[in-house]
Amino acid sequence: MPDYRSIVILTGAGISAESGLATFRGPDGLWEGHRVEDVCTPEALARNPALVHRFYDERRAKLAEVKPNPAHAALARLEREWNGDLLLVTQNVDDLHERAGCSQVLHMHGELLSALCARCGESWRWGTSLPPGSVCPACGSGALRPDIVFFGEMPYEMERIDAALRNCDLFVSIGTSGAVYPAAGFVQTARYVGADTLELNLDPSAGSVYFSESRMGRAGELVPQWVEEVLGG
Ligand code: APR
Ligand code: ZN
Repeated sequence: MPDYRSIVILTGAGISAESGLATFRGPDGLWEGHRVEDVCTPEALARNPALVHRFYDERRAKLAEVKPNPAHAALARLEREWNGDLLLVTQNVDDLHERAGCSQVLHMHGELLSALCARCGESWRWGTSLPPGSVCPACGSGALRPDIVFFGEMPYEMERIDAALRNCDLFVSIGTSGAVYPAAGFVQTARYVGADTLELNLDPSAGSVYFSESRMGRAGELVPQWVEEVLGG
């Protein structure tokens, strides 16, 4: 294993699958029984806010029932024990990385447990459901929404992620299908600057050919194994 100095890790729904959270692109093409365009777009929120809120209330209730798995725990160990620069970027809106002990997690697609004011952009912790009549603590608006980056919206912190990718010597993609940009393009940026690129996934992702190494299997096994290698165990 080369002596890396700066690692960027991207995680997707596959890292939380063994905890019991459904991935997005299941065999039926539905996400928990819904078409994504009915629950994950700004248009859906405008058209049927009750449906969208109910959907995310259900996701929060489900999240409260599950626990981090060994893959989350291994990344928390890496954060604690590795001496280089580490940026953990997740597409996941769950809080399993944090519950496993990671303190620095960049949620590029937002967070299930955070509410967002559609008027002023303030965000704050949402808990399992928002009491009726809740208003934004900053501006008093009642136009509240889940702090989720819907399809057609810009992910968070893209400049910071891009800067880290341009400076990394290893990019690792874990449990993501590579179907959704801009995250699907991170491997290209890392390759462009000459970084090693490693994919840990159950099946080859859409961008599999761009990785210098692909290991196929369950995140709960592959991630602890890889972290052990990095830490020189
Ligand atoms: N271990 C490792 N990988 C797994 C496991 C597992 N136990 N189970 C499933 N996978 C892999 C699948 O093979 C698949 O490639 O995880 C990937 C999950 O892909 P998606 O369901 O498409 O999830 P993701 O890539 O995170 O989706 C990206 O799409 O809907 C949007 O905004 C949403 O953040 C999400 C984005
Ligand atoms: Zn506000």
